Amino acid sequence: MAALPDFDIVLFGGSGDLAMRKLLPALYHLFREGMLAPGARIMSSARKNMSLAEYRASARTQCGAFLGQAFDAVKWESFSERLFYFPLDAQDSDSYHSLKAALNEHAERIRVFYFSTPPSLFPVICSNLGRHELITPESRVVLEKPLGHDLKSSCEINDLVGGYFSETQIFRIDHYLGKESVQNLLALRFGNALFEPLWRREWIRDVQITVAEQLGVEGRGEFYDRTGALRDMVQNHLLQLLCIVAMEPPSSIDPNAIRDEKLKVLRSLRPFTAEDVATKSVRGQYRSGAINHAPVGSYTDEPGINAESSTETFVALKAEIDTWRWAGVPFFLRSGKRMPERVAEIIVNFREVPHSIFDLPSNSFRANQLVIRMQPEESMKLFLLAKKPGDTMALEQAHLNLDFAGTSQTRRLDAYERLLMDAIRGNLTLFVRRDEQEAAWTWVEPILSAWSASPERPKLYAAGTWGPAASTVLASRDGLAWNEES
Ligand code: BG6
Repeated sequence: MAALPDFDIVLFGGSGDLAMRKLLPALYHLFREGMLAPGARIMSSARKNMSLAEYRASARTQCGAFLGQAFDAVKWESFSERLFYFPLDAQDSDSYHSLKAALNEHAERIRVFYFSTPPSLFPVICSNLGRHELITPESRVVLEKPLGHDLKSSCEINDLVGGYFSETQIFRIDHYLGKESVQNLLALRFGNALFEPLWRREWIRDVQITVAEQLGVEGRGEFYDRTGALRDMVQNHLLQLLCIVAMEPPSSIDPNAIRDEKLKVLRSLRPFTAEDVATKSVRGQYRSGAINHAPVGSYTDEPGINAESSTETFVALKAEIDTWRWAGVPFFLRSGKRMPERVAEIIVNFREVPHSIFDLPSNSFRANQLVIRMQPEESMKLFLLAKKPGDTMALEQAHLNLDFAGTSQTRRLDAYERLLMDAIRGNLTLFVRRDEQEAAWTWVEPILSAWSASPERPKLYAAGTWGPAASTVLASRDGLAWNEES
């Protein structure tokens, strides 16, 4: 990997969960790989009044816990010399002075402002950075989700940030795009001639995208109860994955060429009518149950959750794309908390052969399947039927491992490592453009509105199951079954 240019990264929300679990560990890995130029600085800022030594000690303990075996005390010591701390009240312009002085020691450098604070602080941080003239032509801003609660609030955030940074300086992060197998899917689709002729309605029966977590709301109760699974996962991560599967081949790897094609997919999604919401969407909420044989409580018993809450912790949708390529191919999307397994995968189900000459029991595997996994491990497999060794002409399911990277010794990058490097280098390919984000909100809004207008509550499902039975019914209306049920 080519080393990164000199940069300063400022982490707003630098003592928060994301910084400790993802951002600092990602920068530590890049440091260990020799990617950080000798002068690169990581400047964390947060409200808490701590000395630099206290911040470094706290980061060591917290990141150490998340890094596990990758933590090396000696390497961490040298890494932490790059780490600086600026106690700062984002709303108080006067508290930016020491950050300003430090940044201006290298005014010409690439500056990355990483906003991992609640979005309500984005406006005031932007205006304070502007007031102190800290936004240089070499600056970029990375925006963490949630970017708004609906189309209107997302437009407001975009207008506001857009008043200080140009669109080419704005990096809206969706960490699913940084996952290795998502990029491998791009390579598979557009680096090979083999799949393109098959990648259409004539050969693909349905696509299923599942992001299931075993975790509950993990101390984020208040945030989650205002948000729900549709906003937290589908509006961003699942729709971005759908775009990668469904987009037309872009004319180049240029960020806008790719983002233009993703935008066309989002704009071709068939809007949900009120009737569609009733028949093509399912919302669920977990009640008590068991995960890995251990009992877990219900959603409404979690801290920060309203006992009467009708927030969904599970969503299943049938999406349809109105284009020649995809007409009639259902894209089933599903995401939930407290599912039996942690799994994130895209399944492309191909059609069966037009006429089978082999005797196959009706319930056996009959059609090819491409499985792209992001969780728990990253992989890509193509399932086929092959002859079973032996004297009879019996077939069995076999798979080709298309994940060639898995056989190399190169360490896999975490999504945040890759996306941080891209932001530092100024490469927008894996970041979401404003119009994409707004098109995604436009598509989910009718579902959100119909749900909030409906007296019906989300359907309950036991923790540790695959969601309400209605989700099975959703797929079976098309004569299909979710992958774990097939
Ligand atoms: C985040 C959501 O964007 O993604 C969380 O806010 C969710 O609720 C997380 O747990 C899942 O990410 P990953 O990479 O662990 O699948």
